[in-house]
Amino acid sequence: MGDGTLHRYFLNNGDKRIHKWLHFFDIYERHFERFRGKSPVIVEIGVKWGGSLQMWKDYFGPGCKVVGIDINPDCARHAEDAIEILIGSQDDPAVIEQVFERYPQVDIVIDDGSHIMEHMIATFEMMYHRVQPNGVYLVEDTHTCYWEVFGGGLRREGTFMEFTKHKLDELNAVHTREALPVTEFTRSTDYIACYDSVVVFERRPQGRRRALVTHGM
Ligand SMILES: C[S@@+](CC[C@H](N)C(=O)[O-])C[C@H]1O[C@@H](n2cnc3c(N)ncnc32)[C@H](O)[C@@H]1O
Repeated sequence: MGDGTLHRYFLNNGDKRIHKWLHFFDIYERHFERFRGKSPVIVEIGVKWGGSLQMWKDYFGPGCKVVGIDINPDCARHAEDAIEILIGSQDDPAVIEQVFERYPQVDIVIDDGSHIMEHMIATFEMMYHRVQPNGVYLVEDTHTCYWEVFGGGLRREGTFMEFTKHKLDELNAVHTREALPVTEFTRSTDYIACYDSVVVFERRPQGRRRALVTHGM
């Protein structure tokens, strides 16, 4: 668990505005702490006022690179040292391709963009398998999965939450007696953590399975 650095940064932020739910900070620190000081590449979809990009730059430290994607051309002004902005829609393959052309080794993706169901899924499908083998893919504001205006609805097929539920089965495909094929996702995903309004996918190659019986004589 983190030491509250991000929490403090957010609460004391006197610079560009940041828009986050307070309970997200424990989640960020739990999943992101191991990247601090390791020069990671972070992609955040949804720049708005630019404050969150500055927060990541401060949190991950010297050598990190923060790439912001936003559909609003005004967001280009938030580029600065170690922060690059790409303008375009998160569901546009050309935009996503540009990210990986420039940064083949992406460690963390944070989807805080449109929160529209089709966009969240399209972006995940384009990016997830290209994130580093020990990387993290975090989708926030997933409460929109229950809101009609974003294309959501309780247990409605096509929402990011239902997509995630299918991914839980895919993660366990090895055990389904071939009912589900073992996919690249199966092989490369360690776990999925579902929180209030946030889903986190932790990448790590699945290990060799050995069920042992041990006993002490
Ligand atoms: C919730 S705000 C981002 C807040 C910012 N990450 C923060 O924490 O302060 C959402 C942003 O997503 C952008 N956006 C909306 N639709 C988008 C799309 N299709 N592709 C990329 N960005 C989009 C909006 O312009 C807006 O700036």
